[in-house]
Amino acid sequence: MLVNGKPYRSLWESKDGASVFIIDQRWLPHRFVIEEIRTVEQMATAIREMHVRGAVLIGAAAAYGMVLAARQALSLPPSEFHSALQKAAQQLLQTRPTAINLQWAIEQQLAHLQENSDPATTLAAFLATARKIVDEDLHRCASIGQYGFAILEQLIKKKSGQPLNILTHCNAGWLGCIDYGTATAPIYHAAEHRLPLHVWVDETRPWNQGARLTAWELAQQGIPHTVIADNAAAHLMQRGMVDVVIIGADRVTRTGDVANKIGSLEKAVCAHYFNVPFYVALPTSSIHWELSDGVADIPIEERSADEVHYVSGWNASAQELCTVRITPRQSPARNWAFDVTPATFITGFITEFGVFAPSELDTLRSKIAPSVETPYDTTQP
Ligand code: MRU
Repeated sequence: MLVNGKPYRSLWESKDGASVFIIDQRWLPHRFVIEEIRTVEQMATAIREMHVRGAVLIGAAAAYGMVLAARQALSLPPSEFHSALQKAAQQLLQTRPTAINLQWAIEQQLAHLQENSDPATTLAAFLATARKIVDEDLHRCASIGQYGFAILEQLIKKKSGQPLNILTHCNAGWLGCIDYGTATAPIYHAAEHRLPLHVWVDETRPWNQGARLTAWELAQQGIPHTVIADNAAAHLMQRGMVDVVIIGADRVTRTGDVANKIGSLEKAVCAHYFNVPFYVALPTSSIHWELSDGVADIPIEERSADEVHYVSGWNASAQELCTVRITPRQSPARNWAFDVTPATFITGFITEFGVFAPSELDTLRSKIAPSVETPYDTTQP
């Protein structure tokens, strides 16, 4: 997608293949900072501290983390190669517990340890898998865009020329994927087809993914949008100002329960009450087919209370980012990063295979097959 008119992806390889570049999302929208990641330790830090974030991107970043680990382990005696990679996998797995794409990507890499004993062959296999994940994510998000576009096209027919109002939560945009995004892919597709639309962007406290990242993405693509306080959605829905909600997902059970950014559940309950269609856009790699009860089975990440105590923003006079405390020193805070929306509140899942109701996820599962490989230039930003 475009940054100041120049196309970028959220992650790319260096020309010599020895490192990976990411966009450090902590600085957006105020600074556009590119970070070079050279080691698995740096990648684990980048994922844990949310330089990179969003379930799909976390998966791809972890796959490349294993590539970096394998490269580092080449200098070890061959007998220590496999154990170094097992350790690296554990290190990456511990960074963020809710997004299933992390585990999904690392399991694909670890499978190569069973197939190969030679370090150089293993490294080559890791690299091929990381590239395949990135390439397929790109295609999955593009398909999500097309299927979601059909929904928006239908909804807009009822609007007699007025813009369609879409509400989204958090950032399930291209910054959280490789490109296009999940929840934003139908929006970008619709904008390309000149459908009149407007996006309500939940600010998404405490990390402000909506206010900082989704708003920035939409602004870069020239898409009409308005940032709203996290608690404004019910008010807008009550007044008929939201036509559809589209969010992303960090992990979905086979029964259709959805773990996504904290606040998603609240939006789903309100949408259900006010009869607003509520869609979840996701690649099938975010479905954890072994789980059936999202509330009981999906681990919910609890992050530092400091993310609630403090907010960061741009100090225009000092021309720098600054952080200020908003809670009393004596007050404790808690910071659950995700919640689980039960399947019953979900109108449909927009996937790379089409749109499915929660009750149709078994049909979706039967469609999952190895996908087409159309490699792209992995060194392109
Ligand atoms: O904590 P984050 O910012 O990684 O959470 C991101 C979300 O909840 C997104 O909605 C989700 O990962 C989908 S992004 C493809």
